[in-house]
Amino acid sequence: AGSLLTVANLSVEDVAAILAATDRLERMAAAERARILAGRRIALLFYESSTRTRTSFELAAKSLGAMTTLVSDKSSSIEKGESLKDTGLTLRALGAECIVLRHANSGAPYLLAKATGLPVLNAGDGMHEHPSQALLDLRTMLARLSGVGGRLVNGKTLDGVTVVITGDILHSRVARSNAMLLPRLGAKVVLCGPKELLPEDALGLGVHGASGCVVIERDFDKALKQAQVVMMLRIQRERLAGLELDLGDYISRYQLDEERLAARSPEALVMHPGPMIRGLEIAGEVADGPNSAIEDQVRHGLAVRTALLVRALGVGGFESVTV
Ligand code: CP
Repeated sequence: AGSLLTVANLSVEDVAAILAATDRLERMAAAERARILAGRRIALLFYESSTRTRTSFELAAKSLGAMTTLVSDKSSSIEKGESLKDTGLTLRALGAECIVLRHANSGAPYLLAKATGLPVLNAGDGMHEHPSQALLDLRTMLARLSGVGGRLVNGKTLDGVTVVITGDILHSRVARSNAMLLPRLGAKVVLCGPKELLPEDALGLGVHGASGCVVIERDFDKALKQAQVVMMLRIQRERLAGLELDLGDYISRYQLDEERLAARSPEALVMHPGPMIRGLEIAGEVADGPNSAIEDQVRHGLAVRTALLVRALGVGGFESVTV
């Protein structure tokens, strides 16, 4: 109960409840918020590096009054060969009531949830999913595009919005979670990239996606012309495994620079989950420019993750959550 392993089993009502709780918690006085999880224990278990996700879950937990502990693969008994299951059971024995897990293996959060019986929040599993990222991306889009502070209206507030996701789709858990979530709210998702980084059906969602609203367009200039939102992705060199890319060619075809944005989609909201490599997938001037919502994404991440922790522990209006 309270786990968030995937966006696949989140209904539009679940998403609406999470975003409504996010709004409520954001409006709350700090002292009141700090009582919600006072004395509760949350473990952050990170097998891969992270800046945004780890820090925002930690700050979110602390703002709710919870105690946190960080276990990283590089400074724990994981280095000595302890399994994920035994690490989870150890954290449970130490009193952890919820585990936030980032892991290089797709599906690891499912194993941990089953082994421990604790609520597990998937903070990114391999090339599979990054559900909290998709929720923060959604809230960023709703806030910037509809101006209603991230609330869902009839579950379809992204109706008529085209989101172009460009770059290393093949290795991207962010792309998969967004491609599953955003069409449910009415958005069309256009995936864009070269064949090496975007094979046909790279995300395993079917040619047109589970919802019929996910399409491929390899020509970035054509894709960009349709975009209300353009989300750029980093090339995940750590997962390329021998794949050779001509970076000069990639930059000329797929980099989002000022000239391309001004010519094709001057009003588009520019997003990036981070970490970004300035000068590769995105020009620094665009990342820092007026269209950029990249820092907003980080702020929404803190807010959404506060609600996810409350939901995980079944308090603050989430007492009956069973997902
Ligand atoms: N977007 C994201 O997951 O960033 P981190 O790897 O820094 O957590």
